[in-house]
Amino acid sequence: MRDAFNRPLRDLRISVIDRCNFRCPYCMPKETYGDDYQFLPPADYLTFDEVTRLVRLFVAGGVTKVRLTGGEPLLRPGLAELIAALTRIPGIEDLALTTNGYLLAEHAAALRAAGLRRVTVSLDSIDEEVFARMNGLGIPIDRVLAGIARAREVGLAPVKLNAVVQRGVNDHTVLDLVRRFAGEPVAIRFIEYMDVGNRNGWDPAGVVPSAELKAAIEAEFPLHAVAAAYRGEVAQRYRIGGTATEVGFVSSISQPFCSDCSRARLSTDGHFYTCLFAWQGTDLRTPLRAGAGDAELTALLGGVWQRRVDRYSEERAEVARFTGDRQRKVEMYQIGG
Ligand code: GTP
Ligand code: 5AD
Ligand code: SF4
Ligand code: SF4
Repeated sequence: MRDAFNRPLRDLRISVIDRCNFRCPYCMPKETYGDDYQFLPPADYLTFDEVTRLVRLFVAGGVTKVRLTGGEPLLRPGLAELIAALTRIPGIEDLALTTNGYLLAEHAAALRAAGLRRVTVSLDSIDEEVFARMNGLGIPIDRVLAGIARAREVGLAPVKLNAVVQRGVNDHTVLDLVRRFAGEPVAIRFIEYMDVGNRNGWDPAGVVPSAELKAAIEAEFPLHAVAAAYRGEVAQRYRIGGTATEVGFVSSISQPFCSDCSRARLSTDGHFYTCLFAWQGTDLRTPLRAGAGDAELTALLGGVWQRRVDRYSEERAEVARFTGDRQRKVEMYQIGG
């Protein structure tokens, strides 16, 4: 299956819940997402059987890589059951989970036993105060570090760490994060702060270009470029000389990577999105619940992919001038980044 720019569909990111136990200001600012915020009622979530059925169809359409995200995926009750069901689908070569790590220590062993292979943990800073501020709720870092340690113990490997970098917020702690993990078999990825959704008050002045970070890290650690693991890989990776540690950069702002983008997203309530910055999705849940057969669903999602012309990161400046619906992007926690 190829889209309008001849890009295959390879990678499916599934948001299993729209709720989160953190309130990172760049994603779910607590002023907007307070106690009375109406998240989806659980009856609206795709059931595990529904997710599994759709994933089978996506795999038949070319997907080989599946990532579970959220919100915070570990808040979805019984997640290990979904993982176990997904591991039984032939054709999935890579099954991963992106989590904020808060509940990881208690769940890691069960996730591994269910067949999960690896995890990516969001860790914006190793500085306690900065970390507490960046999760919006003053949550201490210890539980996340314990989650990372536990994931490594149970063999969820490689553990990747994601740090969203914002100028004046945590950029001064980037080197400390590298120093803390240098020598350990983890991959630390620095992500340029992006204009996802409509509610994080994105300001380009908050973006630290990856080239600047790389230069700062390279002044202390020798970095050797690592070839991309697959075409269209999101992060540019480097190995710290003489160690098993990788440093990566996700540079959606300074170096957009749309031309090779093979990623699709499925929201908690069963909408299919073809870009992280999409402003509309295709409802798959309604036909699914109305009894649509595999052929009908395959035709629906195949048609959407074939018409796909998304390349938001490359068009960012033009889109900023659009008005109305075209400016209302889906929020990150709804489709899991
Ligand atoms: P790996 O397969 O482990 O390399 O994972 P990944 O980098 O695809 O996934 P992860 O969830 O760790 O995402 C890292 C960062 O890249 C997050 O901030 C994502 O929002 C961002 N990202 C992932 N895919 C895309 C994409 O298609 N477009 C843009 N602009 N950003 C993306
Ligand atoms: N810009 C960049 N990355 C973001 N993430 C969430 N919101 C943003 C944003 N505005 C990251 C999370 C997580 C990953 C899936 O996406 O920190 O690590
Ligand atoms: Fe939660 Fe992740 Fe969003 Fe932070 S970035 S609020 S941890 S979903
Ligand atoms: Fe893919 Fe959209 Fe991200 Fe470009 S902006 S890489 S098309 S998800």
